[in-house]
Amino acid sequence: MQTFTLNNGVQIPAVGFGVFLIPNDGPTYEATLAALKAGYRHIDTAAGYMNESDVGKAVKDIGIDRKEIFITSKLWLQDYGYENAKKGIENSLKALGTDYIDLYLLHQPYGDYLGAWKALEEAYQEGKLRAIGISNITVNLWNKFKDGMSVMPAVNQVEFNPFTQQKALRQVMDENNIRLEAWYPLGHGNKDLLGNETIVSLAERYNKNPGQIILRWIYQEGVISLPKSTNPGRMAGNIDIFDFELTDEEMASIRALDTGKGTHNPEDPANETRLMGLKIHD
Ligand SMILES: NC(=O)c1ccc[n+]([C@@H]2O[C@H](COP(=O)([O-])OP(=O)(O)OC[C@H]3O[C@@H](n4cnc5c(N)ncnc54)[C@H](OP(=O)(O)O)[C@@H]3O)[C@@H](O)[C@H]2O)c1
Repeated sequence: MQTFTLNNGVQIPAVGFGVFLIPNDGPTYEATLAALKAGYRHIDTAAGYMNESDVGKAVKDIGIDRKEIFITSKLWLQDYGYENAKKGIENSLKALGTDYIDLYLLHQPYGDYLGAWKALEEAYQEGKLRAIGISNITVNLWNKFKDGMSVMPAVNQVEFNPFTQQKALRQVMDENNIRLEAWYPLGHGNKDLLGNETIVSLAERYNKNPGQIILRWIYQEGVISLPKSTNPGRMAGNIDIFDFELTDEEMASIRALDTGKGTHNPEDPANETRLMGLKIHD
C-alpha cells in the first residue's frame, strides 16, 4: 500500500477503510477483518462510531504485526475540555486494546476545543498518539483555533470528492503542511458522482470502475481517502488503484467537476446543536 508522509514524519497508508455506521459486537469486527485480509493497513474509526472495540479485536486476531496497521480514532464532543479529553483518550486506547494510536483527531469543531487539543498534545508528547489532527475544520474555524495550538495538526479530515474539492481550504492547509483526508470520498455512494460521464468514460478507458477512478484521482491530488464498502469485490477494488496513472489532462477534467459545495457545513449552528446533543456514554 502506497503511503504519504505526515508533517511529523509518520507514514500513513494513502487509502484507509472507514467503519462509520457499522455496528459494534460483530459487524465491525467482520468488516475490519475482511478489510485487513483484502490488503488494507489503515482503519478509520472514532469514539463516536462506538465500534472501537471491534476494530481492536480484529487488529489483534488478524495475526499481522501491530506496527504494520495504522489505526485512526477520534475524540467525541462529549469528552472535550482538558480533563475529559485525557479520560477520553484513555478510553479509546482501552477500547482499541492498544498502547498507542497512530492518529487521533478532534472529531468536531465545537465545545472546549482547545482544552481537548491540549490533552491530545500531551498524549502525543508521551507517545500514546503518534500523530494528532483535526476534522471538519473550515478556513474560518482554522483561523479561530490555530493560535491556541502548539503542535501543528498532521491532518484535517473533511468531506472531499470530485464534487466537493475544498479548494480554498486546501490552499490554507497546504500552506501549513496539514494533509487533507477525504471523508465521503465516493460521495457516500452518490449516484450522480459515480455515474458522472467524465468519470465513467475514464473508467472504461482504464478498465476500472468509477469508484476506482475517483479514488485514484484523490490519491494523485495528494489526499488520503477513506472509502467504505461492505461489498467484498468493491472493498478489494477500492485499493486496487496503484497500477495506472491519470494524465494531467484527465486530472484537470475531474477537477472541473467541482461544485464548490458539500453536504455538510460545520459552521451551521444547527449542526453544532445537533452534534453537541449526541451522547456516547453516561
Ligand atoms: N470525520 C467525519 O466527520 C466523517 C464523516 C463521515 C465519514 N467519515 C469517514 O469516512 C468514511 C467514508 O464515508 P462513507 O462510507 O459514508 O462514504 P463513501 O466511502 O464515500 O461511500 C460509501 C458508499 O459507496 C459505495 N461504494 C463503495 N465503493 C464503491 C465503488 N467502488 N463503486 C461504487 N460504489 C461504491 C458503498 O456501497 P457498498 O458498501 O455497497 O459498496 C457505500 O454505499 C467513513 O467510514 C468514516 O470513516 C468521517
